[in-house]
Amino acid sequence: MNVGLKTQILPAGEAAVAAAARVLAAGGLVAFPTETVYGLGADATNAAAIAHLYQAKGRPAFNPLIAHVGDIDAARRIARFDAQASALAKAFWPGPLTLVLPKAKDCPVADLATAGLETIAIRVPAHAVARDILRAFGGPVVAPSANLSGHVSPTTAAHVQSDLAGRIDLIVDGGPVEVGVESTIVGCFAEPVLLRPGGLPRGDIERVLGRPLAQPPADGDDGQPLAPGMLASHYAPRTRVRLDAGSVEDGEALLAFGPDAVAGVDAATAVMNLSVRGDLDEAAANLFGYLRALDVRGARGIAVMPVPHHGLGEAINDRLRRAAVERD
Ligand code: TXA
Ligand code: MG
Repeated sequence: MNVGLKTQILPAGEAAVAAAARVLAAGGLVAFPTETVYGLGADATNAAAIAHLYQAKGRPAFNPLIAHVGDIDAARRIARFDAQASALAKAFWPGPLTLVLPKAKDCPVADLATAGLETIAIRVPAHAVARDILRAFGGPVVAPSANLSGHVSPTTAAHVQSDLAGRIDLIVDGGPVEVGVESTIVGCFAEPVLLRPGGLPRGDIERVLGRPLAQPPADGDDGQPLAPGMLASHYAPRTRVRLDAGSVEDGEALLAFGPDAVAGVDAATAVMNLSVRGDLDEAAANLFGYLRALDVRGARGIAVMPVPHHGLGEAINDRLRRAAVERD
């Protein structure tokens, strides 16, 4: 393990973009902001760099990565697009949508990044810093969220630092991200499938497709989950999480939503409100930061008020459900 690396932190800007491109070209690891969450980038064609990336995150190598590219032309060099995929790319790229597509014949992305699958996940991020880095580097960059495997995703450079300092070469600090939950993942199969709810609401995608998105089966044919990273307790704070709380129990902290108060709130160990005015976009942007903040308050548990399911609520509830899964 390369713990003990000196991790440089640079404010976003020309010097940081140039440094990021240099580190990527040398096979190193760079954390950078995207509009969804911070990503940990490596050269997608460099198997050794990708092996280091899995190691730095403590991520199992059977969990494949998303290839990030600058535009749809670059995406077409690594995957095959049918009419539906082209329509989605045209409507939503750059933006918080990842498409899972059949690999192109001469796909240059290292097999290690796709865990040996015949498909590849691709996205064109919208964040200016991510786009500048992709342009300066000039090739596909694989980038999982820049957290230790199993932790909640980072929405600030400080979150990245607390998980990965000493394990990666560079963090580019572009301030807090805008969306706050990871990209929506759509599998472009004969029937398009919602593999992961995320920063682009389901309804927007269904309007472009003109049909509903299918739900993924719990497991693929071969017993492998379809989006292998969607393991039940993937987004886990250490503190126990209790969902749909109508009151705060003894010793609990409260993750609130909306203007209403709940019983016991005055005795809560800590209270953070995802959005006092009940705005789901604001709640998504605050979700992971607030979970991290409440996790270190030494509470007996985190009680979470109900969050409506429309718009980004589907992604918020998905991450909360995973955070609440019992584990040892
Ligand atoms: O917003 C995002 O998507 C962020 C930013 C950094 O771009 N990235 C991100 O990556 O969330 P990661 O690695 O944390 O999540 C990628 C998910 C995993 O659940 C993985 O299993 C799934 O995508 N995935 C990757 N390739 C796949 C494939 N070929 N088929 C199905 N699922 C795939
Ligand atoms: Mg992740």
